[in-house]
Amino acid sequence: MSAEKDRVVLAYSGGLDTSVAIGWIAEQTGSEVIAVAIDVGQGGEDMDDIRKRALACGAVDSEVVDARAEFAADYCVPALTANALYMDRYPLVSALSRPLIVDHLVRVAREKGASMLSHGCTGKGNDQVRFEAGIAALAPDIKVLAPVRDSGMTRDKAIAFAAGKGLPIDVTSKSPYSIDQNLWGRAVETGHLEDIWNGPWEDVYDYTADPAQPREPDELVIGFTDGVPTAVDGTPKTPLEIITELNERAGAQGVGRLDMVEDRLVGIKSREVYEAPGAIALITAHQEMESVCVERDLARFKRQAEQRWAELVYDGLWFSPLKRALDAFIADASQHVTGDIRLRLHGGRAVVTGRRSPASLYDYELATYDTGDTFDQAMSKGFVELWGLPSKIAAIRDRRAS
Ligand code: ARG
Repeated sequence: MSAEKDRVVLAYSGGLDTSVAIGWIAEQTGSEVIAVAIDVGQGGEDMDDIRKRALACGAVDSEVVDARAEFAADYCVPALTANALYMDRYPLVSALSRPLIVDHLVRVAREKGASMLSHGCTGKGNDQVRFEAGIAALAPDIKVLAPVRDSGMTRDKAIAFAAGKGLPIDVTSKSPYSIDQNLWGRAVETGHLEDIWNGPWEDVYDYTADPAQPREPDELVIGFTDGVPTAVDGTPKTPLEIITELNERAGAQGVGRLDMVEDRLVGIKSREVYEAPGAIALITAHQEMESVCVERDLARFKRQAEQRWAELVYDGLWFSPLKRALDAFIADASQHVTGDIRLRLHGGRAVVTGRRSPASLYDYELATYDTGDTFDQAMSKGFVELWGLPSKIAAIRDRRAS
């Protein structure tokens, strides 16, 4: 690296767009490009091959970060404690990884003395917002370059650029789908999915088996400590181990497939197919653990906070004051969310079949209809009368007035 040239840190995936962006940015700005590839559990290619490809495409430096454990513990677990589902369904797969990527890009920029960051997003999606709003919050002094969106790096031009420079990228084996995947799930769009009447073909799926195929169910016990999953079948495990195991076991039962039209922040409705077997199984279990351990009003209020949390994260505001304040609320509300949930995975569904907790609010003696009942039903008579009193008085007035 030279002392006098400006430096750009590029979020590098190893694909066509970001491979071409290396030389494209260098030509347009006269800067040196440093590629950073982040492993958030997307699988596929070897990360060291990706690192070397960046150098072959002209990067002056190339770094790979294994962020899987960090992603699991600091991004997926908070999404789980928030039961985060955008539009009540989408577990925020892509939206969760962007703030982590931004955090590492900013770190590398500081370490290498770079004054610019770059991403390969288009101008139509949410991810440009997540990158740039994140950068603005963490490093307001850093300039952003978005070559695909802002400097005419269309797909045709990218292919011509790659061919002209002899870059080591295969531009022929293009999948009809745009795919983004990580430890929390997988998002698939474009191709035949852009006609929203078309059902998804089976080739769309990778994390999940066809739920309609006959197979034996799988039953497991997930242990939680203060809202955080800490064990499977009695064996203590890290969040990364638990999510990985659940992706395999729930994925094998076809759990977590989702086909939806969603509201993007930029105003477009888009059709996306998701599969998030581990996320959906864990959220199902976590919600049930909360049902047992969280007091009624706190649980009702938390549901509103959860929806807002999911919207903020979807909308790229991970590093925002409201998100931070909601995190503090959720952490407080998660105290005592401790115990075990038994889940049955089968036929595309994760179904709770049992729960136990040392911090349970379920009181057998209050709930039972058998002998041993300690609930004093005589108290209910007056309670019900007073509960309905305001409506009763209003109804009497209404009748009088009409
Ligand atoms: N619509 C999702 C989101 O905004 C996923 C975005 C990436 N999807 C993709 N298939 N490349 O979070």
